[in-house]
Amino acid sequence: MNIRGIVKVRSSLILTVVLLVNILCLMSITMQNMSTWRPRAGAIPTTKPSTMHDSNSNNNNNRYGQASAGAVVESSSKSQPRHSVTTAALNLTLNPAVLRKVNTMHQVLNQSRFADGTVYPAMRIGRYLMVHRELCSHVDRVHLVIIVHTAPANLGRRQRIRETFGKRSLFYPFNIRVAFLLGKTLNTTLERVLWMEHARYNDTVMGDFIDDYHNLTLKGVMGYRWVSQYCSNSEIVLKIDDDVFVNTYKLLYSFLPHMRGKPKSIFCNLWHKNTMPILRQGKWKVDNRLFSKMNTFPYDYCSGFVVLLSTDLMGPMHQAAMTTPFFWIDDVYLFGMLPSVVGGVTFYNYALDKNVALNDQKAINCTVTQGASCAIFGSIIADHNYWRYWQMISNLYVSGDWRVENKLIE
Ligand SMILES: *[C@@H]1O[C@H](CO)[C@@H](O)[C@H](O)[C@H]1NC(C)=O
Ligand SMILES: *[C@@H]1O[C@H](CO)[C@@H](O)[C@H](O)[C@H]1NC(C)=O
Ligand SMILES: *[C@@H]1O[C@H](CO)[C@@H](O)[C@H](O)[C@H]1NC(C)=O
Ligand SMILES: *[C@@H]1O[C@H](CO)[C@@H](O)[C@H](O)[C@H]1NC(C)=O
Ligand SMILES: *[C@@H]1O[C@H](CO)[C@@H](O)[C@H](O)[C@H]1NC(C)=O
Ligand SMILES: *[C@@H]1O[C@H](CO)[C@@H](O)[C@H](O)[C@H]1NC(C)=O
Repeated sequence: MNIRGIVKVRSSLILTVVLLVNILCLMSITMQNMSTWRPRAGAIPTTKPSTMHDSNSNNNNNRYGQASAGAVVESSSKSQPRHSVTTAALNLTLNPAVLRKVNTMHQVLNQSRFADGTVYPAMRIGRYLMVHRELCSHVDRVHLVIIVHTAPANLGRRQRIRETFGKRSLFYPFNIRVAFLLGKTLNTTLERVLWMEHARYNDTVMGDFIDDYHNLTLKGVMGYRWVSQYCSNSEIVLKIDDDVFVNTYKLLYSFLPHMRGKPKSIFCNLWHKNTMPILRQGKWKVDNRLFSKMNTFPYDYCSGFVVLLSTDLMGPMHQAAMTTPFFWIDDVYLFGMLPSVVGGVTFYNYALDKNVALNDQKAINCTVTQGASCAIFGSIIADHNYWRYWQMISNLYVSGDWRVENKLIE
């Protein structure tokens, strides 16, 4: 995250049109629900981080409780321990090596050990405010589940993904699924639109925390939990941000065969430990009290915009987030600290500019010059280049002899 420039949001005409058509469509479909919609009473909800305890006792008066028809609200308590984390519980469940690692993390994060259960992200996600439990359940095997970290306002980006590289019917006989991960918004207008979107597409998953970049770690842990609960029949998990373009054809036909059958594996652009600077200024500024004697992060971790993980890691990563203290830079936490606590994880380096790109011009140039042999399958994309690039990819893969290039190995 910290190495990424802030991608400038440029809304193209076509996106606006898609958006408008979509909103109209949503409105007409959920018009009947509108009559039962009640705006919430208070302007600002309490922002106390909720433990599972809290969220369970709040089940009945949650402001999302009277959701519109079609919306699914559920408690995740069945997969969670009901007690808060105590020293005794941790001492019993963590082996000495893991305990040492976790202790060191508490130290570099300048926290008194086990001070408070809310230090652990898995205890702060709360229950799902929106969830679809059957997204993956209609087929025995899902080949690829894509979890997209998205901000509530980015309706247009979600919609273009649904219509392009996340569209199931384009990739048959492969089964792909897409889930969009969100936090709560305080904007009531937007909140209403999100419920319509959920009722229409049933592919958004919302946790009980405010959507903010300081809370991205919580979103990621929620993603691990959601896949382990509801999509564990997927072979591979792909985590992306909503400003990323994925060449799903390339991924399924060329890369999946190589990722298959490798347990506890992460495939990503890897930053080696003790190489990535800890920034002390700017948007990704880390407080001086954290990692105080260090200039670089002491963990191997991934650039988080495109990361592939074997599905067997989902449960253990979620478990690890119950004992690994919170750090807000999600790439470091989700793809560095958690794997380190889980242990025995193998990283495969899908290197920058070779397999993934931060710059869409690199990805587009690669496709123009190398066609289907271009090995870049994921790139950050500027909004104004999105449809042009999609057109290029879909022309290349829907027709042409690309299958020669991408032999299907089952
Ligand atoms: C847990 O382990 C720590 C040392 O790792 C020890 O200081 C503490 O007393 C133990 N707590 C319990 C309740 O056993
Ligand atoms: C959404 O998914 C749930 C199952 O989790 C299902 O009961 C509901 O009918 C679906 N809604 C729509 C609009 O597809
Ligand atoms: C709330 O969301 C709506 C719809 O996305 C947007 O038009 C509006 O500007 C937002 N309001 C604020 C205060 O951000
Ligand atoms: C993260 O979410 C929690 C729970 O909703 C909230 O209290 C907190 O303010 C959020 N953090 C930020 C930085 O927005
Ligand atoms: C840890 O935090 C405390 C108070 O929050 C502070 O007094 C102390 O100096 C910090 N330690 C370091 C090494 O920054
Ligand atoms: C892409 O190609 C164009 C010309 O074909 C070149 O000017 C540009 O520098 C290239 N961009 C990158 C990022 O490689």
